[in-house]
Amino acid sequence: MSNTYKVNDFSKIMNERRSIRNYDPTVKISQEEMTQIINDTVKAPSSVNMQPWRFAVVASDEGKSALAPLVRFNKVQNETSAAMIVIFGDLNSFEHAEKIYGTAVEQNLMPQEVKDRQLEVLSPLFEQMATEDKKEMAIIDGALAGMNLMLVARAYGYDTNPIGGFEREKIAEALDMDKERYYPVMIVSIGKANEEGYPSYRLPAADITTWK
Ligand SMILES: Cc1cc2nc3c(=O)[nH]c(=O)nc-3n(C[C@H](O)[C@H](O)[C@H](O)COP(=O)(O)O)c2cc1C
Repeated sequence: MSNTYKVNDFSKIMNERRSIRNYDPTVKISQEEMTQIINDTVKAPSSVNMQPWRFAVVASDEGKSALAPLVRFNKVQNETSAAMIVIFGDLNSFEHAEKIYGTAVEQNLMPQEVKDRQLEVLSPLFEQMATEDKKEMAIIDGALAGMNLMLVARAYGYDTNPIGGFEREKIAEALDMDKERYYPVMIVSIGKANEEGYPSYRLPAADITTWK
């Protein structure tokens, strides 16, 4: 199915994004539309294209109840959003290497010899990588997906709030996921805005940039 963007104006999408913490609780997002949103989101880049991001879309009452004790001061987002999308990084992301690189060859996106060469280098690299390094990769790549998700959501007419305030140690288990494998990155609440949000100040480039 083709994308159904409601807003396709980059300035509106980016400059008018605000963290929205209160949503119209009657507006749900269908699984079909959510699938489109996620398929757009994963156009984000990732380290060696391993795409370690995993999404748990928590939209049901049971799922929201499981999250409720873990979201600290973010209860309103949990109660009113169409979904709380929990982004995890898969510490075994290399399991998908064959599918990612093999499909790229099948679809003529990558020559066979490039795939072979890449996997030959990457396979021992991932095997020997320290868990801390895998977690760092998960956070960097997962955060890029998170940002993309927030912009994509606006194109579909929804708003979001990135949420870091939750019980990181407990969230995988609460969603019946293997906590040794799935490392939490952030939650993004998504839904139809029930408030305007507020504009916030950004330090100008002059304050935060060095020119070498
Ligand atoms: C990693 C991260 C974690 C955040 N955690 C929370 C949170 O737990 N609760 C919340 O209400 N907002 C949270 N925010 C939203 C920020 O407060 C917000 O992005 C910032 O104030 C700028 O406002 P804006 O998003 O409207 O531009 C978080 C943002 C980021 C990037």
